[in-house]
This record gives sequence, C-alpha cells and structure tokens, in this order.
Amino acid sequence: MRLAGIDLGNDSIKIVYDGTNEPITVPNIVTPGYDRHIFQEEDAPHKALDVTVYSPALTLNNRRWFVGQLATELEDSSELEETDNKALSDQSLIVALTALAYSGITAPSYSPPSYSQADEVELVIGTGLPVRTYAKYRESFEQRLVGEHEIVFHSTPQLHGRKVKLRIRKAVVSIEGAAAIFNLATHDNLQVRDEEIYGGVIGVCEIGALTTDLPVIRRMAIDNHFSYGEQMGLANYLDPIRREVEDQFGYAFPSRAKLAQRIKQREFVIQRIGEGQATIKPIVDTYFSRAAVRIVDLIKKRWKKCPDIQCFYVIGGGAAALKPYLIEAAGPVKLRFVPDSELQNVLGYVKVARSRMNQGAFAEMTN
Ligand SMILES: Nc1ncnc2c1ncn2[C@@H]1O[C@H](COP(=O)(O)OP(=O)(O)OP(=O)(O)O)[C@@H](O)[C@H]1O
Ligand SMILES: [Mg+2]
Repeated sequence: MRLAGIDLGNDSIKIVYDGTNEPITVPNIVTPGYDRHIFQEEDAPHKALDVTVYSPALTLNNRRWFVGQLATELEDSSELEETDNKALSDQSLIVALTALAYSGITAPSYSPPSYSQADEVELVIGTGLPVRTYAKYRESFEQRLVGEHEIVFHSTPQLHGRKVKLRIRKAVVSIEGAAAIFNLATHDNLQVRDEEIYGGVIGVCEIGALTTDLPVIRRMAIDNHFSYGEQMGLANYLDPIRREVEDQFGYAFPSRAKLAQRIKQREFVIQRIGEGQATIKPIVDTYFSRAAVRIVDLIKKRWKKCPDIQCFYVIGGGAAALKPYLIEAAGPVKLRFVPDSELQNVLGYVKVARSRMNQGAFAEMTN
C-alpha cells in the first residue's frame, strides 16, 4: 500500500508520494465533458484528463468531466469561489480523485492486477484543511475521502478506456500551514532539522488562492488561542486584475488559472485583437501591492496579539507571487520566505501521515 500526501488547493491539487519528491500538480478546475474532436492527441495524460467519476461521496455522481489543464482553456469551466468549502466541494473531490487515479497508475512502481480488468490503486493519504474549517469539517472530510471510488478515463492519451478502482484506506487530516512548518522543521526521516522551528513559537502566514491561514505553532503544537484564518487569498486580487485587463484592453483570460499561469511565467505582454500589444504589469503591480499591504497588516496584528512569536514564515503560492511586494510593504518587519512555498503543505501532509502510521495507528485501523 502506498502513502501519498494530497493538498486539495482551491487553485491546484498537489500530490506527493512517500519516497519520491516529485510533486504532481493539477489545476482545480473542471468542465462537463463530451466527445471531443481531437486533431492531435496531447503528449501526456495530465494535459487531457477526460474522466467519468463515481464516488459515494459525490452529489454530481457518474458524470463525465474535463479536469485540470484541459478545462483551463474552456470558458464554461468552473473555478472555486469564496463560498466553496473544500471539505464539502464536489469539484475538489472530482479533481482530487482524478489526480490520484492518474498518478497512481502512471507511477513507475505501479503494476496492474493480473486477475482483474480494472486497475486498482490502494492508498493511505495525508491531507489538510484550513484553520477555520478544520475543527468543524475534519470528520466529514475524512469520511468523504475514505472508501472506494471509481474513475474511468476516456480520451486521455495513454489511458484510453482504463477503469481505476481507487481505494483510500485512511486519511490523516492536518491543518494547512501547520503541516508546512512540520515539514520545514524535520528531515525526511522525521528527525529534527531545525531546532529553532521545532522548539520555538512560530508565526505562519499561508497565502492560498481563497484562504489565508495564520496558525501559530508552539513547540510543534498548534496554538488554539492565537491561530486563525481569513477567507481571502490571491484569487481576490487575480479576479479584479482579469476584469480590469478586459476593461482596459478588451482582452479576456478564459480562466483565473490562465492569468495565474501568465504571472507565474512573468509573461506580462498580451496580444490584442489586431496588431497591438500591451503590458498588464502595471495592473498586476497595483493589485499585488494592495494585497501585500493587507497581508502585512494581518501579520503585524497577529504579532502584536502574540508577542512571543519569534519569527514569521510566509508560505503558499501566494507568498511566491507576492514576495517582492510583501518585502516592500513589511518595511523593517522581517518575514521569512522559503523555496517551493506552495508545496510545503503537501510535503508536510506526507510526513504527518507517515509519522502517524509509524506510531501504530495503522495497526489499530486494520483491526
Ligand atoms: N510562483 C508563483 N507566482 C505567481 N503566482 C503563483 C505562484 N505559485 C502559485 N501562485 C498563485 O498563488 C495562488 C495560491 O497558490 P496555492 O497553490 O498556494 O493555492 P491553493 O493551495 O491551491 O489554494 P488554497 O490554499 O486557497 O486552497 C494561486 O492563485 C496560484 O496561481
Ligand atoms: Mg493551499
């Protein structure tokens, strides 16, 4: 049985298998699927995830979906909104199950069962929820994930017609941001790597697409009193950028994900209809500076309320996006950034799940 960490991000789902350090990322975006006309088949499965998903946990069950990259190009795709709760969201579960099924059967270590027509993937997963939803939704989230799900691939290259039975045996749910700190504090073998983080009082600001989590970690335990979360993330700034680019230049990004991709690759020049080009950099600067001021404000308030915080880590994809703006907005207040900041949670989820398994919780579960 394999162990995987999965971060059900509102922007993208990230998966890391225990023992590998290669993350699999699938944009959290879907659109209803149909028989598509294919002029040239895509060169990798993740570029055209076309699936039917069955799961006892889904309301929209047994339907066909285009998932991830294939959906980012289509205008009728849906991306998550502030009111969506990832513990209950059908969309997030559809993307998560699809991503687990495809990564499970394309892994080099996978061997299909000889006795059955269907592929089988069996997993223990580590995952997480935001600070604000953790206590209330942890149990129902766990229940939605654990069990048997079925994913059938249609026009996906290399996977045509494959049917995957995905069994999730156990889900260990951590808190977003806190798991990231656990990852930073420990080596792969779970031994302490950073004494300051492991034994100290650490502030975290984890900037996601729709939520920003500010857990306070005291000697590796979450501080119940000072930890909190905001229903706000980078998407609240990406969406107005998208609207303003459209108003100013008549250029419409088909999805939030498309705009985010552009900013990530620092390609700010857009091609207008006709021969003109324009740069969207000034619009991005305006909104990202505003976002940074707001985030720094949250951090300062937290630090004032809990003055024994020794240092503040700013992580999540939003930290990568906003880094220069945050540094400017923070002035003399020192913030810590880390590389691969959007992967720190999922790396932490794998470690938390593994340490839980090592403590014999797994034996308990299988009895
Ligand atoms: N290197 C980068 N440069 C610019 N933007 C980035 C970068 N990495 C991630 N982003 C953007 O930052 C935002 C947050 O990314 P992240 O992966 O942390 O979100 P998420 O975990 O999917 O969302 P949430 O935590 O709200 O569930 C997204 O909109 C993403 O597109
Ligand atoms: Mg996140």
